[in-house]
Amino acid sequence: MEITYYGHACFVVKIGETNLLFDPFITPNELAKHIKVDEISCDYVLISHGHEDHLSDAEQILKRTNATVIANYEIATWYAAKGIKNYHPMNFGGQWSFDFGTVKLVKAEHSSVLPDGTYGGNPGGFIVKTKSGNFYYAGDTALHTDMRLIGEFEKLRFAVLPIGDNFTMGIEDAIRATDFIECGKIIGVHFDTFPYIKIDKEDAIKRFAAKGKELILLNIGETKMITI
Ligand code: NI
Ligand code: MN
Repeated sequence: MEITYYGHACFVVKIGETNLLFDPFITPNELAKHIKVDEISCDYVLISHGHEDHLSDAEQILKRTNATVIANYEIATWYAAKGIKNYHPMNFGGQWSFDFGTVKLVKAEHSSVLPDGTYGGNPGGFIVKTKSGNFYYAGDTALHTDMRLIGEFEKLRFAVLPIGDNFTMGIEDAIRATDFIECGKIIGVHFDTFPYIKIDKEDAIKRFAAKGKELILLNIGETKMITI
């Protein structure tokens, strides 16, 4: 399993030959100017919630690649109404088997509205289970105790958590989340893009390490193989 970071909360996880793109927000991101959006290949686009900083490039990418958008009912059908043919609507607690593995949509504590003001449904996160390992992407969220259910029932190879604070969990709560989800290998996202979410990266890595956890902060455009 391989992960490529495209800045903010956007990344691709490669499972076998299948690419899963999460929360595409690249063109408006000043820190991601070197990323060529038109060269990103993906088979699925997973969108955690309706906020602009999680989907600004989604429509264009979906139209270019014919990828399938996986999102809550409200977001998936919003894309269907825009002419996107391949869409898969879900809701909390629901799981579906795709060719790469299964996806379960789980709750996030946040808000969600689509860029045109359309109701975006509830904000969520994804648990992805595959033959080569499982991972959890929390989406934009506060720490919440339902994360304990993930720790109790799922065995995660890694998790992708927001760490930028102000709009989502900060470092301290993200470290608490690692205990809840029982996973010590974390890819940090949702930091540095805007003034409100600037972090001290070295300090964040140290604080995770002090609790025996690994915080991985990828450079924008960097690819990393995730091993156990
Ligand atoms: Ni958000
Ligand atoms: Mn966000």
